[in-house]
Amino acid sequence: MRRVNAARTQVAIVGAGPAGLVLSHLLAAAGIDSIVVDRRSREAIETTVRAGILEADTVRLLSESGASTRVLSDGMRHDGIELRFAGEGHRIDFMALTGRGVWLYPQHEVLRDLIAARLADGQDLRFETEAARVEDDAQTARVHATDANGEPLTIAADFVVGADGSRSVARLAVTGADGGGYFREYPFAWFGILCEAPPSAPELIYSNSSQGFALISQRSATVQRMYLQCDPDLDPEAWSDERIWEELAARVAPHPLIRGPIFQRDVLRFRSYVASSLRRGRIALVGDCAHTVPPTGAKGMNLAIADVVVLARALRALIGDRDWSLIESYEDDVLARVWKAQHFSWWMTQMLHLTAEASDFDRRRQLGELSSVVASEAGRRYLAEAYTGWPLQLEELL
Ligand code: DHB
Repeated sequence: MRRVNAARTQVAIVGAGPAGLVLSHLLAAAGIDSIVVDRRSREAIETTVRAGILEADTVRLLSESGASTRVLSDGMRHDGIELRFAGEGHRIDFMALTGRGVWLYPQHEVLRDLIAARLADGQDLRFETEAARVEDDAQTARVHATDANGEPLTIAADFVVGADGSRSVARLAVTGADGGGYFREYPFAWFGILCEAPPSAPELIYSNSSQGFALISQRSATVQRMYLQCDPDLDPEAWSDERIWEELAARVAPHPLIRGPIFQRDVLRFRSYVASSLRRGRIALVGDCAHTVPPTGAKGMNLAIADVVVLARALRALIGDRDWSLIESYEDDVLARVWKAQHFSWWMTQMLHLTAEASDFDRRRQLGELSSVVASEAGRRYLAEAYTGWPLQLEELL
């Protein structure tokens, strides 16, 4: 029989995305050991293109905890966005409405910073280690995995955290085989591109048009990220660069777009999901394995980090003081924010996208909704509060 390698730690974390890595960082600051495993290679984690907007408190946490020193120097603060519809732009001034901005700093850069910081701190971080199953026998929780050499590995821990994304293997141990949970599928997706060009506008443009939605985002002075609403089954290679530019231009017209070579294309599906439960015994779920939101409004990574803020405090109480109370309230504590973010992401999505079935009534109602939001300070303020992020409880963690 093959030998099973065994490891023991206080908290075993499945998934080295933003949630898993920030959690290991906050635990280490409190003297709590963890082992983080991820089936992907370090290079794959550090280069996969993801979203780019960080809420004000996400940035505070990353910078003040030492998890990312570059977010403030290399990120760009954005104090508003433009909402476009019926051919006109309307600025939503976040700073005037809420006193907060957001930061444009790509997720893969956050991950590069986090991985460097964790490794410098001596974190046990194992890439290409694939978890197969998580279990909990009341005294000990375990992760059964296959390590980078293909050898079986079992990690025993006081607590296991599933931070392994929407195709989670940890989730099963919390929700049971029936799974359940709350779903919504959308009949469209985003076609995302990266191109070499200067920014086409000072701030992000979210544009509703009769041809469908477009988002003009940014990455740096020389690289831009743009998205257009498309069919979920679209093959990203099927469109010529020319066709992509014409489609984008038509959707933000008459605002001019600066074109450049397109060097990356992908299609992002839209799904809203909340798991039926987020904790059982000594196992809890954070981030995309617990809930996913459609990308409009960029809540995904921010919500994952908000879960971790709550769970880090709960684990400190459990491991430091054998106090289960915050673990017991973890699910209720995070769900309040999760459902607010679900609503905001759904609201932005339905307000900005067109569906094939939309009637003339639906279309005119949508324009009425957009007009009410931009014309009312209360409407603009709700958007600005949700986009810049509801405050995180960072006391005692920093
Ligand atoms: C980006 C993604 C989003 O979903 C969003 O709402 C804003 C920006 C981005 O990738 O840049």
